[in-house]
Formats: sequence, C-alpha cells, structure tokens
Amino acid sequence: MTDLQNYLTNHKERFLNELIELLKMPSVSADPAYKKDVLQTADAVKNRLEEAGCSHVEICETDGYPIVYGEKIIDKNLPTILVYGHYDVQPADPIELWTSPPFEPVIKKTDIHPEGAIFARGACDDKGQMYMHVKALEFMTATNQLPCNVKFMIEGEEEVGSVNLATFVKNNHDKLKNDVILISDTGMIAKDVPSITTGLRGLSYVEVEVTGPNRDLHSGLYGGAVANPINVLAKMIASLHDENNHITIPGFYDKVEELPSEERAEMAKAPFSLDAYKKSLDIDAVYGEAGFSTNERNSIRPTLDVNGIWGGYTGEGAKTVIASKAFAKISMRLVPHQEWEEITELFKKHFESIAPEGVKVVVKPHHGGQGYVTPIDSLGYQAASKAYEASFGKKPIPQRSGGSIPIVSLFEQELQSKTILMGFGLDSDAIHSPNEHFGVWNYLKGIETIPLFYKYFTELSK
Ligand code: BES
Ligand code: MN
Ligand code: MN
Repeated sequence: MTDLQNYLTNHKERFLNELIELLKMPSVSADPAYKKDVLQTADAVKNRLEEAGCSHVEICETDGYPIVYGEKIIDKNLPTILVYGHYDVQPADPIELWTSPPFEPVIKKTDIHPEGAIFARGACDDKGQMYMHVKALEFMTATNQLPCNVKFMIEGEEEVGSVNLATFVKNNHDKLKNDVILISDTGMIAKDVPSITTGLRGLSYVEVEVTGPNRDLHSGLYGGAVANPINVLAKMIASLHDENNHITIPGFYDKVEELPSEERAEMAKAPFSLDAYKKSLDIDAVYGEAGFSTNERNSIRPTLDVNGIWGGYTGEGAKTVIASKAFAKISMRLVPHQEWEEITELFKKHFESIAPEGVKVVVKPHHGGQGYVTPIDSLGYQAASKAYEASFGKKPIPQRSGGSIPIVSLFEQELQSKTILMGFGLDSDAIHSPNEHFGVWNYLKGIETIPLFYKYFTELSK
C-alpha cells in the first residue's frame, strides 16, 4: 500500500507512546478494586477510536463492563470487517516476580526481541494487539486508503469469560453484521515463521470443595481417624488421569475428533525444537498424553489441569491441623465438538461419584466456551495468507492453538461469519505471567500486515 512503510517510520514513536499510555491503566476485570480503572480504559479506547477515524463510536453498557463499539461505513455495497479485541487484562500477581512494575510500561531488550519489547500487563494480551488495529485504521483513513467498511467491538470482560458479550451479540445482529471477523489475540510460531491460528480450544472451568469434619482439628488427636479433606482431594485429583495420562472421566472423549494421520503429518511439519522448548521452561522432560507429540498435546487434544489448590495451614512455620475443607480450581481445555456444558456435567457427576465416605463434595461450575476450527479455503483465510506473504515475505503456516477465546464460536453461530485469528504474539511473551511483554517489532509488523488484509479481503470479495 502506498506510503505504508513511510507512515510507520514517521509515526512509530507516537504509536509506541500511545500504547504505553493505555498500558498504564490497570484494567483488571477480575478484581472489583480496579472497577474505576476498567471504566476509564473503556473511555480511553473510545477516544482513540474516534481519533483514528471512526465516524461513530459509542460505549455500550452491559450488566458488567461496557463494550466499546466503533464504525466507519464508507459504502454499504463494500464488505465489512468486524474487529474484536479486549481492553481488560489479567491480574498482575505475583507482583514480586515482575522486574518492573506491571502498570509502568518500559521498553527492554530481550534475546528474542533485540529491538526491544514493551513490558507491562496487557502488552500482548490484548491491549498491544488490539491497538495495532486502531493504528492500522489511522493509517488507512489518514492516507485515504480504507478499502471497505469497518466495525470495532472491544470488550472489557474477555479475561473473565465474556459473559455479557454473548447477550450483546445475540441482541445486536444488525449492528454487528459483517463479512468477516478479525481478531489479534493469539500468537504466531516465530518472528521468521509467520502463522495464522486456525483453531482454539474450548474450556470448562470448575471449582471443587471437599468438606470433612465440621471444624479444623488437632492432627494428633484426630489424625488417622477421620478423612482429611486435603488428602482426599489430592487422591481424587490424582485419579482423574490414568498411567497414560488419559483423562478418566467416563464419556470425556466421546466427541473428540481423531484427526486423520495425513493432517497430523501436515501439522508436524511446523518448525519446532523440543530441546529449545525444554530449555525455555527449564524442564528436563516434557509430559503428557501417551501417543501424542508436544504440539498435539497442546492443541488437538483435550486436557484437565488444576489451576489452584488450597486448604489448611500455609502460613509461616508449622501448625498441626487437619483442615475442615480443601479446595481446587480445575480447567479442562476442550477440542471442537466437545460440548463444554456437557463436559462440565460429566465432570460434576464423576467427581461426586468418586468421593469416599466421610467427606462431602461440591462442584461449582464457573465459565466455559466452545472450541473453534476454521477452514483454510475461506475468503478470509486466503486474504490473511496474502497479507502475511506481502509483509513477511513468506507464506504463513496454519496452526491450531491451545488457548481459548470462548466467544469466537458464538460469533460464528450468531453472526454467520468466519473469524480470522491474526495473532502477532510469541509464546515467550509471557501472557498471564509476570513480565508480560510485546515485541516492538511484532507491534509494528501487525500494524503493517492489517491494512494488507483489508486490501486483499476487499479485492477477493469482488
Ligand atoms: N488471548 C488469550 C487466548 C489465547 C492466547 C489464545 C494465545 C491463543 C493463543 C485470551 O485472552 C485468554 O487468556 N483466554 C482465556 C480464556 C478466558 C475464558 C479466560 C484462556 O485461554 O485461558
Ligand atoms: Mn486475550
Ligand atoms: Mn488472556
């Protein structure tokens, strides 16, 4: 596109500074203490969309945090791209592990990002990636090169399950009408190995509570004579996988699609070094379901993981006690065709059924969502592929991701359009972890690639 490189070079500093300002706002949706900040972030996003060239922007109230909607409709006969992203971020804790404060963004060099990376909570997930779209729009409107209509829907509750977005989408079919949905909230294989995400896993998230005696007990006076809820919970959790690391919940795999060996062989061609993987995580071996590779285990196979476990005495020193209660938070990553509500039900039934006598078990479902797969012969994928080829000089590899964006399958169901996942993050960017960062190079590459998607999508739609 005319002047794309020039525009990027001339405005690079400002593009970075604007993102840094946005990253200073602690929009943690999970923690009510940040309510004011989350609401202020929505306002800031609204202003940025207006400045970037949207002709109409509004804050749409929901029962939770608002959705920022913006649009620029240039001609009803041209295609419409709907951009989705989120302005909320994960909590920053454990805060002591950050090398610089999570909401005081700084640019630091890393081995993978010698040009520098912005360190801040939300830098990659998703403020940095969402803002690439705002700056891409700025470029296209400022240089009179917007080739089609665009709508933005930026929500503030993605990290807590997008509960209110579902209602918004269901009630606003006309407003959100589009030809393709474009999201940058995933990753790519490496800076020199561009990839487009063609699949996301679904999710079922539950919390379990095991109750034994009616109060905490002296572990000498009562130890050995009553069920210890923590011992019991540990045993129950351990029984959820067998010796091959298959999940033991009856019916769990019933709807799991077994991929044809040709497709698995195709997937295995994506560049991957097991040694580098182990080294980056400081582990001496990988671990997982027998019969599947590391890349398969974290993309095409369902999983069950404890995300947190607590109970009893965890303070300084020792306290001899048998706790009355033990708790755990458990996530199950699901693959396409597994119904998340059904899996939640299967988990609940099974977990209650394996409780030994002497304890009571309660399973509380949290949130969930369906997985997603998208074909590579769609117009959107073809346009994205051409855009990457033009900006990276290489054809991108289709790749299924292990992460979840639960709302994506609902988009397809409600709005009847395909979602294209153009992610520019790297696995090493530490999203959800301390020291989250986003490469300056990746940020600018995203801003460069997005307008090309608009161009090719419009051309291919003719
Ligand atoms: N952007 C991530 C999902 C993601 C990251 C997908 C990288 C693929 C590659 C998103 O913000 C996220 O964290 N999703 C949650 C689910 C949600 C219900 C909290 C997840 O995957 O844990
Ligand atoms: Mn995200
Ligand atoms: Mn996230």
